[in-house]
Amino acid sequence: MIEAIGLKALHRIDPEAAHGLAIRALRAGLTPCPGPVSSARLATTLAGMTLANPVGLAAGFDKNATAIAPLSAAGFGFIEVGAATPLPQPGNEKPRLFRLTEDRAAINRFGFNNEGMDAICARLAAAKRTIPVGLNLGANKTSTDRAADFARVMEAARDHVDFATVNVSSPNTERLRDLQGKAALAGLLEGVMAVRGTTPVMLKIAPDLTEEEISDVAQVATEAGVSAIIATNTTLSREGLKSAHKGEAGGLSGAPLFEKSTRVLARLSTLTQVPIIGVGGISTADHAYAKICAGACAVQLYTALVYGGLSMVAEIARGIDALLARDGFANVSEAIGSKREEWL
Ligand code: FNR
Repeated sequence: MIEAIGLKALHRIDPEAAHGLAIRALRAGLTPCPGPVSSARLATTLAGMTLANPVGLAAGFDKNATAIAPLSAAGFGFIEVGAATPLPQPGNEKPRLFRLTEDRAAINRFGFNNEGMDAICARLAAAKRTIPVGLNLGANKTSTDRAADFARVMEAARDHVDFATVNVSSPNTERLRDLQGKAALAGLLEGVMAVRGTTPVMLKIAPDLTEEEISDVAQVATEAGVSAIIATNTTLSREGLKSAHKGEAGGLSGAPLFEKSTRVLARLSTLTQVPIIGVGGISTADHAYAKICAGACAVQLYTALVYGGLSMVAEIARGIDALLARDGFANVSEAIGSKREEWL
């Protein structure tokens, strides 16, 4: 109930200011902290990491890694912070985050606002990691060698994280997504892999790729030896939206992204053995379970938390457990891809 009142109050103010307050509330211990939800059915492994459950926090929520401890206690099986770029940068002009309440969605054009890798890696180094914690890697807007930026952040972070994600799929840094092309991506990943030490590297892709581009990404990622592919980031599509802010520029996340991102993950899972993390439009256990049955080993979410609050995390994890039991699966790994055909 306290969470519901808090959410209602937050929704009356500017979305970016509200997010800042939500992070402060987390740090002040005002949010649910059931600890990682787990069971024999939910416990799983991903990229060599042991997860209490397959529900993760998607990148962009805790951009500066200031709330690792409370987020680790919110029920997630793993969390991803960042994106971090080599140098601090302010991001795009405000306003740059919009609620699309009628659509249960958001549009953001933050443009990698963050305090930079030195500050973020110092926090990661100081954090006591109680569940796997990853860092989303980004490139500076003004960089002349963006591929090198990813490697720089990887090198700075490698001893302080459980995984790192190459994010070439944000729509808010001009030409960043060009790095998803075959040759550019292969070169970029090679640079990152060379300095990762033993830290697993993941690759996060956009939902707006053509069949051919998905196939290229699968091939390059497999050859580069990434540990997982995260599908997907936000979309440029504006199909079927009702909200007043639907015309804002930026990446769309939340409910309208669910189907598109699930189709991409299902397709991808027919093209590679690399584990896939399903992200996009999850707000219920049914959604999360659908992604797993479409081919995902684990899931992440962000936008639904804006509408439902953090108590949703434990609910989703427990809900997946019940759905696995209903369908006769002894462990979540058995359900992966069990309904892939429905999404192809
Ligand atoms: C994001 N997302 C994101 N992704 C990423 O790889 N690096 C980032 O820095 C950010 N930043 C960010 C900010 C905001 C405000 C939002 C809403 C999203 C994308 C996010 O991690 C996720 O892939 C999408 O939002 C889709 O999942 P949901 O939100 O529909 O559950």
